[in-house]
Amino acid sequence: MAFTFENGEWNLKSGGQVWHLERLAKERPRPFYLYDLDSVSERARAFAKAPGQVHYAMKANAHPRLLSVLRQAGFGVDVVSLGEMQKALACGFSPQRVIFSGVGKDTEDLKAALAHRIFQINAESFEELQALAVLTASTGQTADVAIRLNIHLTAPTHKNIQTATEESKFGLDLRLLPEVLSWLKTQPQLRLKALAVHIGSQILDVSVFETMSRKMGELFRDVKAQSFPLERLDLGGGLGIDYQNDGAEDFPRLQRYFKALSAHDSPAQLLLEPGRFLVARSGVLIAKVVYVKRGVSRQFAILNAGMTSLMRPALYDAYHRIEPLRVRGGERETYSVVGPICESTDVFAEAREMPRLAAGDHVAIFEAGAYGAVMANTYNESPLPEQWSVLDGRMEVL
Ligand SMILES: Cc1ncc(COP(=O)(O)O)c(C=O)c1O
Repeated sequence: MAFTFENGEWNLKSGGQVWHLERLAKERPRPFYLYDLDSVSERARAFAKAPGQVHYAMKANAHPRLLSVLRQAGFGVDVVSLGEMQKALACGFSPQRVIFSGVGKDTEDLKAALAHRIFQINAESFEELQALAVLTASTGQTADVAIRLNIHLTAPTHKNIQTATEESKFGLDLRLLPEVLSWLKTQPQLRLKALAVHIGSQILDVSVFETMSRKMGELFRDVKAQSFPLERLDLGGGLGIDYQNDGAEDFPRLQRYFKALSAHDSPAQLLLEPGRFLVARSGVLIAKVVYVKRGVSRQFAILNAGMTSLMRPALYDAYHRIEPLRVRGGERETYSVVGPICESTDVFAEAREMPRLAAGDHVAIFEAGAYGAVMANTYNESPLPEQWSVLDGRMEVL
C-alpha cells in the first residue's frame, strides 16, 4: 500500500516522492479526495490473469486520470449512462471497448450507442429491446446486443446492493427469456452476441460467483443451441474488499474469484466488469475535525466533510476506516464521527475507538476510492470536494 503510517503520521509515496498528508491537508481548507493511482495500476496488473476481457465499471470512479491508467492497462469500460459513455470516449476509450449497461437507457442513449457503433449494448428488458428494434429498423443498422438476465440469485451482501433478487429492477427476468428469444428471431438486425449478469456489489464470499457462472454457462449452451450467434458471457462485477482492514486478503480472493468465474463450462468468451475492487483502496477522503463535541452519553467528532462528499455510510451503513493523519500520544477515545450536513444519517461511524482527536486535527477516511466522489452532491449548498491524484511521483488536481 502506498498510503503508509510512519513515525506517527500518514504519508503517500509515489515515484520516490513522499507526501505528508497532514501537510497537504493544512494547505487545503476544504475536504478533498486523494487518489493513489500507482495502486490502481498495480491492481490492474493483477487482472492479467483474469479469465476474460476486462471492462472497468466506471460508475465506481470516473476520474479522468484514473480512467486513463486503466485504458493504458488495456481495459475496456462498462458505462451506465450517456454521460459516462461520452466521458469514456473523451478519455480515449475506443467505442469498440465500450459496454453500455443500465436499466433505463432511453431512445437518445440508444441512438448514441448505435451512432458510435459501440462493442455491446446490454439490454435489461423486453421493452428496451423493442425500442432498439424500432431504432435499428428505421436506420437499417444492425446492433450487437446482450441480454442482462435476472437469474434470481441473492448475493451475500447488503440488500441495497443486491441486484438479482426476484424483486430487483435490474435485468430481464429469466422466466421471460423464452418469449423474448422467439421474438428476437423475427428481428435479424439485432444480433444476440452475449448473455449478461450482475448479481450485486461488495461480495466477499466468492462461492456465489461459481453458482452464477455455472448457471450462465447452462443458459449459454441452451440459447446457443437455438441458433443465436452467441459468443460471450458478460459476468458483471461485484467482487468486494474487506473494508475493515487494509487488504492483505484482496489478491488471494481475486484468484479465487477468477477460478469461480471459470466454472461456466461453455465455449463462451468471458467479459468481466469490475469496479470497486480496482479502485476502492486507491482513494482517501481527507477532512478536518471542526469540533469535538461533548454529548451526554457520547462524544462527537464533527468533520467538515459529510454525506455530501461520501454517501456510502448514510446510504448503506458502510464501514470505512478512519484515522487521524497525525497521532500524538497513546490515548484512545470513542467517538461518533459525523459530518456537518443537516441530516441525522450524516454519520460516518458510531462508537468508533481511535486515537484521541482535537479540533483542527485532520483525518483520513480510507477505502473511499469507489462510489465516493462519483456520488458527491451539493446538498446544503456544499461545494464538491476537490480530487487530487498521485501517479509516478506527480500530483495533480482535477
Ligand atoms: C452492470 C454492472 N457491472 C459492474 C458493476 C460494478 O460492480 P462492482 O463495483 O461491485 O465491481 C456494477 C455495479 O453496480 C454494475 O451495475
